[in-house]
Amino acid sequence: MAKEPQGRRPTRRSWAEPWKVKVVEPIKMLSPAERERAIAEAGYNTFLLRSEDVYIDLLTDSGTSAMSDWQWAGMMMGDEAYAGSRNFYHLEAAIREHYGYRYVVPTHQGRGAENLLSRILIEPGDFVPGNMYFTTTRLHQELAGGTFVDVIVPEAHDPADESPFKGNVDLEALEALIRKVGADRIPYVCIAGTVNMAGGQPMSMANARAVRELTARHGIRVMLDATRAVENAYFIQQREPGYRDKPVAEILREYCSCTDGCTMSGKKDALVNIGGWLAVNERELYEEASNLVVVYEGLHTYGGMAGRDMEAMARGIVESVDDDHIHARVGQVEYLGHKLIDLGVPVVRPIGGHAVYLDARAFYPQIRQDDFPAQTLAASLYADSGVRAMERGIVSAGRDAETGEHHYPALELVRLTIPRRVYTQAHMDLTAESVAAVFDARESARGLKMTYEPKYLRFFQARFEPL
Ligand code: F0G
Repeated sequence: MAKEPQGRRPTRRSWAEPWKVKVVEPIKMLSPAERERAIAEAGYNTFLLRSEDVYIDLLTDSGTSAMSDWQWAGMMMGDEAYAGSRNFYHLEAAIREHYGYRYVVPTHQGRGAENLLSRILIEPGDFVPGNMYFTTTRLHQELAGGTFVDVIVPEAHDPADESPFKGNVDLEALEALIRKVGADRIPYVCIAGTVNMAGGQPMSMANARAVRELTARHGIRVMLDATRAVENAYFIQQREPGYRDKPVAEILREYCSCTDGCTMSGKKDALVNIGGWLAVNERELYEEASNLVVVYEGLHTYGGMAGRDMEAMARGIVESVDDDHIHARVGQVEYLGHKLIDLGVPVVRPIGGHAVYLDARAFYPQIRQDDFPAQTLAASLYADSGVRAMERGIVSAGRDAETGEHHYPALELVRLTIPRRVYTQAHMDLTAESVAAVFDARESARGLKMTYEPKYLRFFQARFEPL
């Protein structure tokens, strides 16, 4: 891959963001002693830090984006009627136009849509293949009685592999599963673009089409986790032959057309602080979902969101597919990633769409996976500079529902997740310097032991102590 951030315009000139700043939010760095105390009080879990104690917050790109003046203006146009809010119809129109699905059920965020989909389609004993698990998605599949089966290509598990589409489905693995359990035990294949747990890696259009063809032969649905599908479309434009001159908006529609519906966390691509949806093409599925949403979220024309939030998301969708926007968004992530590569820090390659992932195994070869190397690294980074990152390794992977043993994921990562339109290049430079400082001190790191473990999605609330 080229080392420079890859823009649409082949040029030696710099690129810059297609916006300027109108409102600022003050942030400050605590003293080293205050940071040591804060991370100890948080049980060495960055999820348990107070946001005010964080200097640069790279915990997640979820709900942390900056909205535009057009979105904020839309917030004032909220129609807060209980039923039939005009903002719902704007949202529905934006999803139909840009994602291409026929029916839309709004939800409070992505996991609300996952809950509905899993309850409607999964029967106890079913299998749900996917291109690597995501925490909430897999949990909802399991709570509905299903078993998640990872069918991502093997190169996704190798942080150093430079393949351009490490989010692809391994078609042979998928076919083998269909042969083994039978098509009637597979309610749908769940594909995600880009793949969060694999390092923000995209899948190709060719692969999406091949999954479509294979599953169609067996009468199996394909459901998309569309959370970062716009970022996936950008990578297709940049990396897949034949797409260089197509607008991202067009690529997104083509990508979605390989699937029967989607779950969506609007808190990422769609540039809002809260919101999501389930979209489907089949009338019957829609009817079930629009009935079930009343139980878990709210009426089918608001699904747990205020009218103003639906308006902000409708407008955010339009902004999200703009070529200059997505180029600057992914370009900033690539800027940080290449800076770290130049400093010799081990990161997942190629650089993903929403985050740079530090390879904690390569960072701390002396720490056993049972002693939580990625958790240790995220805590050390906060102590160094007040930069907050997130563990994506053994803690996030949780335990096997049957045996109770830890899942031992091949990837033991720390995610530096970049919110959209929030931080400057100077923030990225400071972050890179801090990671380099922690890397220089790597030999003295010892690992952690878990002192409290919650039952569900333990990474959010688990507590640790230094070994
Ligand atoms: N799918 C993917 C790929 C996600 O990354 C997320 C959330 C969800 C589904 C669930 O959506 O949070 O709106 O309920 N990811 C966040 C993250 C939490 O930090 O990566 P949600």
